[in-house]
Amino acid sequence: MKKSVIVGMGFMGAMHAQIYAQLENATLVGVVDFKGAAAKEKLDGLGMPGVPVFATVEEAFEALDFDVLDICLPTDLHLEFALKGIAAGKAVFCEKPLALSTEDAERISTAAAEAGVPFQVGQCIRFWPEYQALREFHASGQGGKLLSLTMQRRSARPTYAEGDWLNQEIRSKGAAFDLHIHDTDFVLALLGEPRAVTSHGHFDASGPSHIFTHYAYDGPVVYAEGGWNYPDTWGFQMAFQALYENATIDYDSGAQPTLSITVPGTPKAALPFASAGQRESSFKGGNLSDLGGYYKELEAFIHCLENGSAITDATAGQATASVRVALAEIESARSGQTVSL
Ligand SMILES: NC(=O)c1ccc[n+]([C@@H]2O[C@H](COP(=O)([O-])OP(=O)(O)OC[C@H]3O[C@@H](n4cnc5c(N)ncnc54)[C@H](O)[C@@H]3O)[C@@H](O)[C@H]2O)c1
Repeated sequence: MKKSVIVGMGFMGAMHAQIYAQLENATLVGVVDFKGAAAKEKLDGLGMPGVPVFATVEEAFEALDFDVLDICLPTDLHLEFALKGIAAGKAVFCEKPLALSTEDAERISTAAAEAGVPFQVGQCIRFWPEYQALREFHASGQGGKLLSLTMQRRSARPTYAEGDWLNQEIRSKGAAFDLHIHDTDFVLALLGEPRAVTSHGHFDASGPSHIFTHYAYDGPVVYAEGGWNYPDTWGFQMAFQALYENATIDYDSGAQPTLSITVPGTPKAALPFASAGQRESSFKGGNLSDLGGYYKELEAFIHCLENGSAITDATAGQATASVRVALAEIESARSGQTVSL
């Protein structure tokens, strides 16, 4: 049984708390948040009133014996807290993006490797059931050559974050980084690093708020788009289309079924995939829904810790590459030039 402490009981911290409540071989033993009363209220609402809340991570290190430091803090704090977790010899799970610069991400990655502590990054799309199904289909080769891949991640502007940090470029680097890095990371996971990126986008006070990128590969034509300029009533959508010589895979988070396959001579049909744990009914208005990749990534992480096996997906090194490519995309959108990698 692995004991975890979550740092940052905001949107993602509450998500992770629900997952620990469902995982059989992990348990939440503490929370660190400088807004202690709000964190306590959230834990009560999730049916976890007994979990102690600390104002600083040092207090948690002092008071508790635990295995995992789970960092759900604003991105500009990842470097500081990741290094603290590594120095304390904890296994670290850190939310994405790993850091705000490639240099900081490399520092974390190197420190984790030198200390020999397990480290995984919350690049949850690698574990999202429908995206995993695409990876499996791609690896099977049954569709033939991939001709094109297009990906979208679109959202109303987030207004929930503590201190509105997401809308401050200096803390989040905008939607092109915070939101779109999920698709950047998935493109890298599926196809490796592109030769170059060419991006266009919109910029505002939050930084690059919508980005459109072409990734240069020999073979498939690959585009991804991500932005949060939509009206507050628009909601959220993630989607992709992978067009192969012999099949097309379509995914749309708002469609039913979400994932489908079309092969020549056969009508479009649902493509089965393995779903994940269920959201607690006490959370967000009582609707049960799939916890998707958020569940599967923590399940995989805890599984590696329990078995002593190496983390191979969403490693610090892979997340560092995603930071580098996402920053190259922003540079390209700003300069109007293609950026070679
Ligand atoms: N994987 C995903 O799909 C996904 C989705 C949302 C957010 N995220 C990532 O998760 C991280 C957290 O985002 P969020 O949306 O939960 O933010 P949030 O603003 O909802 O939560 C941040 C929490 O950290 C606390 N905090 C801030 N500074 C602190 C400090 N110095 N010490 C202790 N506590 C502190 C705040 O009080 C708050 O509770 C970010 O890196 C974000 O990019 C990932």
